[in-house]
Amino acid sequence: MNLLNESHLIYTHLAAKTPPFEKLKDKDPRWKKHRGVEQRNAGLKWLRENLILNKNKGVVYFMDDDNTYSVKLFDEMRKIKKVGVWPVGLVGGFNAEAPEIDTTGKVSGYKSGWKPDRPFATDMAGFAINLDLILSKQDAQFSYKMAKGFQESEFLGYFVTKDELEPMADNCTKVYVWHTRTETPVIKGELPGFEV
Ligand SMILES: *[C@@H]1O[C@H](CO)[C@@H](O)[C@H](O)[C@H]1NC(C)=O
Repeated sequence: MNLLNESHLIYTHLAAKTPPFEKLKDKDPRWKKHRGVEQRNAGLKWLRENLILNKNKGVVYFMDDDNTYSVKLFDEMRKIKKVGVWPVGLVGGFNAEAPEIDTTGKVSGYKSGWKPDRPFATDMAGFAINLDLILSKQDAQFSYKMAKGFQESEFLGYFVTKDELEPMADNCTKVYVWHTRTETPVIKGELPGFEV
């Protein structure tokens, strides 16, 4: 809250709780549960309840605390008419994952460390959607019913076919977002008087 307050950004701060059955246990690997379903859906619900199709303009992007972004990414996003896609750095054990672009400038497939044959084999950080689509396809949301690792792919399936994807970042040759992870630091001692 403090960070947002001091950011001078225009924001709406939403909070949504992950239901107990979807909480990761201590030793669970990170892929074991769907993550962010409740939170992303809360954001979608807010947009649909508060913004008006053809009046409000914008692009919807699901950011996360384990990504690092170049500001260039946001300049790219502004061009999106339906769904834009681009490479993501340091993901799935690779230096980058990226859509493959054919000679006509369309997405023909994906270079991905995991299930590249998914209909939309992109990471959550690798796409953004024009607000018009979010507002006109009201039933599109994330779900616990989706197969593990298919949230992105199934969600995008509500909006476009592969043919309609718009490759950004110089035909998907540039990396403007990276998975850099945030980890719980090891704190050995405590200096009194500081809340971090
Ligand atoms: C992307 O590739 C297509 C097809 O080769 C080309 O027509 C287009 O100019 C390229 N766009 C950019 C931004 O490089």
